[in-house]
Amino acid sequence: MSKAVVAVVGSAMMDLTAYAHTLPEAGQTLVGELFTTGFGGKGANQAVIAAHCGAEVHFIGKLGRDLFGDSIATNFSTVGINSFFVERTDTPTGIAHIWVDGNGENRIIIIPGANHEIESTKAVDAINGIDNLSVVIAQCEIKQEVTVAVFSAAKTRGCITILNPAPYQALSPELLELCDWIIPNETEFRELHGQLPSSDEILKTFRPGKNSVVTLGSLGAALINADGSIIRTTAPTVDVIDTTGAGDAFVGTFAYALASRMSSEDALTLGIKVASLSVTKKGAQSSYPTQAEISTLS
Ligand code: ATP
Ligand code: RIB
Repeated sequence: MSKAVVAVVGSAMMDLTAYAHTLPEAGQTLVGELFTTGFGGKGANQAVIAAHCGAEVHFIGKLGRDLFGDSIATNFSTVGINSFFVERTDTPTGIAHIWVDGNGENRIIIIPGANHEIESTKAVDAINGIDNLSVVIAQCEIKQEVTVAVFSAAKTRGCITILNPAPYQALSPELLELCDWIIPNETEFRELHGQLPSSDEILKTFRPGKNSVVTLGSLGAALINADGSIIRTTAPTVDVIDTTGAGDAFVGTFAYALASRMSSEDALTLGIKVASLSVTKKGAQSSYPTQAEISTLS
């Protein structure tokens, strides 16, 4: 089988995470249990899990000329991600301040920094320069105009485009038209569609004629096919430690699976299995199953 070639245009961040059983309210100070520094950013997370799955991954992004940028660049190399299209700037590398509570639920503030300096022309050149490219993924932690330019180039090449609309922002009609797949979580679905994905009838009215997936946390995910048919797959029951990066684990795995010519239903199943494993460990990329662990799942 030919190699699954995936490009991610997106964010890379350093995650600065505080774990505390109970999170403080405004004006309150509490003692937490643990602080970690880890690799994150929705784009980088999706790239890393796609690489763990076995894809040839190209990352298109921007890092600061600082210690965090150096560490992230080294991590890309360690994971085997092609970072030829990662540029550097004097603007600091993006960071995410994350709080995780005793139930594994998180609250995140991101400071995009260098991620907001990715240039459309350079990103398009990158897309046009990758041999045998089949799937292109983007999220909403970089400027939307870059994603529009990249998806337009990707569609011209005949690639599949996947948008993870996270964190939520209004999407231009032009971008919506360029997305073969949109993969929101429940909250993003509500913001995009005006109602929660609580029934198949509601799911069917989201982008009629186009493909989408809605991730549903512990309930798994729902595939919305272009013909209006819905397939729901439940998540395994696991001990939840930290859900940070679970949505990214799903998206990166799903992209790998489509690039490998798997059916969308099989891609859904594999995405859920990988993402559900990720919630059993702390952190974003640090929680992702290895290639050996993933090979036992499919
Ligand atoms: P996050 O923002 O926390 O990274 P998300 O909100 O983008 O995640 P979710 O819909 O919560 O994404 O979860 C994505 C996938 O992760 C689910 O489809 C499921 O496979 C897995 N998952 C998340 N929460 C749980 C859970 N409590 N139990 C089992 N699997 C889970
Ligand atoms: O989706 C999880 C990611 O969101 C974290 O790794 C953090 O960097 C934020 O971008």
